[in-house]
Amino acid sequence: DRVLVLAGGLSPEHEVSVHSGRSVAEALRRLDVEVQVADVDATLLDRLTADPPQVVFPVLHGSAGEDGTIREVLDLVGVPYVGAAPAACRLAYAKPTAKALMAARGVRVPRGAVLPKSAFHDLGAPALLARLADRLGSPLFVKPDRGGSAFGATPVTGVQDLSAALVSCFAYSDSALVEEQVQGTELAVGVLDTGDGPTALPPVEIVPDGGVYDYAARYTAGRTEFFCPARLPEEVLAAAREVALTAHRALGLRDLSRTDLIVTDGGEVIFLEANVAPGLTETSTFPMAAAAAGLDFAVLCRELAHQALL
Ligand code: DAL
Ligand code: MG
Repeated sequence: DRVLVLAGGLSPEHEVSVHSGRSVAEALRRLDVEVQVADVDATLLDRLTADPPQVVFPVLHGSAGEDGTIREVLDLVGVPYVGAAPAACRLAYAKPTAKALMAARGVRVPRGAVLPKSAFHDLGAPALLARLADRLGSPLFVKPDRGGSAFGATPVTGVQDLSAALVSCFAYSDSALVEEQVQGTELAVGVLDTGDGPTALPPVEIVPDGGVYDYAARYTAGRTEFFCPARLPEEVLAAAREVALTAHRALGLRDLSRTDLIVTDGGEVIFLEANVAPGLTETSTFPMAAAAAGLDFAVLCRELAHQALL
């Protein structure tokens, strides 16, 4: 097989994607699969048409990588790829849309409001922020409505911190998602489908040392403690897996995804978001969960690449 791993990309998550791409390429090479790695740039179309790979493994996080744009290009040139189709990516990548779809299926989601950059300027911050705090309570969480790796995402304890949080959010996105900050245990639940239908992997419990799973906590080894199996009752973990499967199906995802959840102290599972291109770095939860399930990461990558050819 000749596989082209796409990694890097144009989003702030470039570096993360390079690491994820390296993991996939090294894993496939261990199995003697012929792999090349390419970034997304002006030469991509030429490269895809002049010497088409058999299959593309897109490991691009954020913007064009996860919103479906690059996959539209792959559809256009007729090269099969691992993972969800463009339309599904668009749904999943837009957090408010994904939340609405999940809420419609009876899954609990944090209360939230979408705030375009223009509204922030037009209405004047103080009145707007007071209204938001009124509606959503506190503490809050501000994040780009589309994004990843916690770029531009800030927990906010009071209305006085909202303004600064929005400014850093708007550095990454034209639209902010302001949510109630749900307290509880953070879980990441991978979903994998290598041909027999989607299966939820064991949930990974995430305990960042500073309490916030920010960029540094995500990608600095030792900054976050991961527990797999997660330290929660079996029935709660089963419910979490069910929510991840619901997200995978409801959003029309394919091959692999990862759903991020909070379990409240009362044991309720709250959907935060679903990722169409979950991180596959050394500190990412998807490979941990696969290992906990007894799956070999390299074999899993090869199966996903192979399946895209069918
Ligand atoms: N956005 C990062 C890569 C993740 O979800 O793992
Ligand atoms: Mg994400």
